[in-house]
Amino acid sequence: MVKNKKSEIEKLKAEIERLKKELKKSKKYGLVWEEKPEEVVEMCKEKLPVLKELKNKEIITDKDKPVNLLIEGDNYHALSVLNYTHAGKVDVIYIDPPYNTGNKDFIFNDHYVDREDAYRHSKWLSFMEKRLKLAKNLLKDDGVIFISIDDNEVAQLKLLMDDKNKGMFGEDNFVAIFPRKSGVAPRIDAKHISVEHDYVVCYAKKIESLELNKVYTAENGDYRLEDEFVKIRGRYKLNKLDRGSIHYSESLVYPIKAPGGDLIWPGGAEGRKNWTWRWSEEKLKWGIKNQFIVFKKTKNGWSVYFKQYQYVDNEGNPIERQIPFKSFILDFPNEQGNKELENIFHKRIFDYPKPVGLMRYLVNLHRNKNAIVLDFMAGTGTTGHAVLELNKEDGGNRQFILCTNNENNICTDVCYPRIKKVIEGYKNLKGEWVEGLGGNLKYFRTDFVDAEPSDKNKIKLTHQATEMLCVKEGTFEKVIDNERFKIFKNSSHYTGIIWDQITIPEFKKAIKDIKGKFSVYIFSLTDETFDDEFKDVKQKVKLSPIPEAILRVYRRIFR
Ligand SMILES: C[S@@+](CC[C@H](N)C(=O)[O-])C[C@H]1O[C@@H](n2cnc3c(N)ncnc32)[C@H](O)[C@@H]1O
Repeated sequence: MVKNKKSEIEKLKAEIERLKKELKKSKKYGLVWEEKPEEVVEMCKEKLPVLKELKNKEIITDKDKPVNLLIEGDNYHALSVLNYTHAGKVDVIYIDPPYNTGNKDFIFNDHYVDREDAYRHSKWLSFMEKRLKLAKNLLKDDGVIFISIDDNEVAQLKLLMDDKNKGMFGEDNFVAIFPRKSGVAPRIDAKHISVEHDYVVCYAKKIESLELNKVYTAENGDYRLEDEFVKIRGRYKLNKLDRGSIHYSESLVYPIKAPGGDLIWPGGAEGRKNWTWRWSEEKLKWGIKNQFIVFKKTKNGWSVYFKQYQYVDNEGNPIERQIPFKSFILDFPNEQGNKELENIFHKRIFDYPKPVGLMRYLVNLHRNKNAIVLDFMAGTGTTGHAVLELNKEDGGNRQFILCTNNENNICTDVCYPRIKKVIEGYKNLKGEWVEGLGGNLKYFRTDFVDAEPSDKNKIKLTHQATEMLCVKEGTFEKVIDNERFKIFKNSSHYTGIIWDQITIPEFKKAIKDIKGKFSVYIFSLTDETFDDEFKDVKQKVKLSPIPEAILRVYRRIFR
């Protein structure tokens, strides 16, 4: 009896310990939502995405420039393909997802999500989480992501991005939220407040690797004045010492003695309500002693200025000072984006494309002038337009990858023709010819291959994977194309694709006289790379089996 009781107590104790552990595991803080299945995601259990090129849409104006990519299709599929072709290769991601306003801007499972939908936020979060997780894999360690968003989802997005347990970026990789002035005219029909801003949320892949561009101030023309200290302190400019301040502090309100003995108060001779000096009384004494302070006679009395010096080195040469860019984005309201698109198409064709200037500003925050820039909610293609402009301006070789679905023909009728016009030139609204910026583009559509892992399907996938392999290697120029193998090249290397191992000797013969390195993909039902057969050209080739390498990525994503 006693023994029984004892074992009961032991059991209870064990149960209490188990429950304690469970409690520890459960979420203490963060975002909870109802996971909503999505058709485009579910279909990947039966169909695997690949890319199909639309050859007649290719634009090539300069073979030496990078080939930009436009992928038409659902971005879940495009991002899955990119997880094979571009894992860890992307420098900058910008997206402008549906803001989920409840006003027919967000389609989930082929239906608009309206304001009354009880799962409005859950659907948006399910949609975003899946794509952001795939997108994160694509970034380099020093890569960065920018996401436009407004009040409807900014709070949800921040908490989602912070959630490392969900495979998101994590709070420690948060960089900034940029408030952007989006409107110029007040919205007089607003019920309570005329909201004239949205945000750009920014995270690093690894904050410790991130080094964003800074503003260079050495050439700043404002520093024009010189005094006897120019060799040590550099040139200077004058700033007023007083200001109307919302940070009013009584200790900053005191009289300063002007050269004639008059007393000066902040805001004018008599002083003004809420005006203060910028410097404390003590700092002012130091400033006067060290000749940082300048008095100027005005009509009504005196003004007091302090000298702001440019930094100089021991020789008196200005030191290039780098200061971080600021978070407030004031210069790129929506109206600019509308005008830019109207200027190309001569009519209003899309509501609120982002301004090119905003995209240029964000892309340019990353230091790499040869960056790969991805926008997987590309819409009208503003990001591509901005990349072409930036390259033209600073001689960079950035490459863009745009993905968008074809909602209301946005890809075929707006994004593609826009990029084509920007590359080749167009007539603007005034009838003037705008010179083309030059560049190259390849247009792909997502396509599908049966997923069931039969030998037949593996062969099919291998045959459908040619475009994916070219995208992965960035080699688009055909060198050899026959039934048994293909060779493509770019300016730096070659890609070989071999359908059947018995063709290996013939392939080797074909590459014998070609100088350069080869990435060689060989069809294999297993994971075999046929190293032995390539032993004699080991230095020249890097071997990978297909479709196993692709399937490995897809198994991880679609499991
Ligand atoms: C707000 S717009 C982006 C506008 C863009 N920034 C511009 O300047 O034109 C969002 C775009 O994402 C696209 N989109 C929405 N869901 C998508 C999905 N699942 N896959 C691909 N594109 C999608 C829509 O077609 C829409 O054009």
